[in-house]
Amino acid sequence: KNKSPLLVGLGDGTFNVVASDAMAMLQVTDQYLELHDGEIVILTRESATVKTLDGEVLERAPYTAEIDASDIEKGTYAHYMLKEMDEQPAVIRNIIQHYQNENGDIELTEGVRELVSEADRVYIVACGTSYNAGLVGKDILERIAGIPTEVHVSSEFGYNMPLLSERPLFVFLSQSGETADSRAVLVEVKKRGYKALTMTNVPGSTLSREANETMLLYAGPEIAVASTKAYTAQIAVLAILAYDIARATGKELPFNLMPELARVATIMDSIMAQKELFEDLAERYLKTTPNTFFIGRGLDASVCLEGALKVKEISYIQAEGYPGGELKHGSIALIEDGTPVIALISQPKTNLNIRGNVKEVVARGANACIISMQGVEHENDDFILPHVEPLLAPLINVLPVQLMAYYAALARGCDVDKPRNLAKSVTVE
Ligand code: AGP
Repeated sequence: KNKSPLLVGLGDGTFNVVASDAMAMLQVTDQYLELHDGEIVILTRESATVKTLDGEVLERAPYTAEIDASDIEKGTYAHYMLKEMDEQPAVIRNIIQHYQNENGDIELTEGVRELVSEADRVYIVACGTSYNAGLVGKDILERIAGIPTEVHVSSEFGYNMPLLSERPLFVFLSQSGETADSRAVLVEVKKRGYKALTMTNVPGSTLSREANETMLLYAGPEIAVASTKAYTAQIAVLAILAYDIARATGKELPFNLMPELARVATIMDSIMAQKELFEDLAERYLKTTPNTFFIGRGLDASVCLEGALKVKEISYIQAEGYPGGELKHGSIALIEDGTPVIALISQPKTNLNIRGNVKEVVARGANACIISMQGVEHENDDFILPHVEPLLAPLINVLPVQLMAYYAALARGCDVDKPRNLAKSVTVE
């Protein structure tokens, strides 16, 4: 094994199997043997011998996978992506349960608390959807915990490391825990003697094993290439971390997180019960268009990046996620008659600004779809989401864009779960 993930699945004495992760082997075994970089395994039907490159035999106890084969079945769903979007309320409840003690207080491990208490700045390092979740996490960490936070794309950070603070804490966000770009940064960071915390959905994954501490996402296996429930899980877990830091440092808390997360889960249920409305919106705005814009401000702009990524990867529409105020500095030139512009509006502070931006694009012929939230809604908005604390709005307003991307892909005849040119875990740099 050399960098890329490799795992041995132990059979019942009549076979052994090797693959890049447990999910590929769950149907045939739940017993696994971990391999570390620089080790080789000699596999026969009956035996698996792990050795160093010098030929020294290593004793390695197998472990039992914690996921059940039934967790990775589609059941009655047409696609994994649809199933996984539907699971989001349950994932939020699961996270609450795992990170809350019997008094309803947030409970993190001592290891995580120690790591965080030593830091003067957080560097979130991630790719794709996890990066987009990191952008939301930055706002939450800064506003709730008061700790300066930067978010970096792994493939850039590895080669162009910025000036670091004196006591940096690296937070690796990764659904799979196997992303090679992120792992390369982790290796470098460790070489420099810094501490790292991994937030991942996969216990025992490379990024989890190699970081000092792990916070799990408890989202259950995510199979569809387009990540959905891991995004909302990452935001929820980052919020929990922010609240814990705030409590430890005596910061004033604007609202009580766990009950608000529970309310978020209930609201998510109500949104998922109205899927056909988003199917209609996808039909109206995205079915035939060659391009689209998602616009918002502040946290909404971060969700717009995720909306655009979802639409690009599964429906192959050229999509841009943009801060509304930035359009006039160039990209508004792309707006023409009928260009769909999907606006997310949940933040009271910038409600009027983003509505002004919508007017600007409509004046140039755009076909605007407005998804807003109670408290900042206007009567003719296309969909008005129930109100949640604005800081947690990304947990709610990402659902409509995930659903619209899904239905757009379906309407355009795309392979939703396995989009072209993409892999679920990107294990090459
Ligand atoms: C999301 O829909 C993507 N398929 C992709 O951007 C993904 O989020 C990225 O490759 C990072 O994966 P990770 O979270 O497993 O590290």
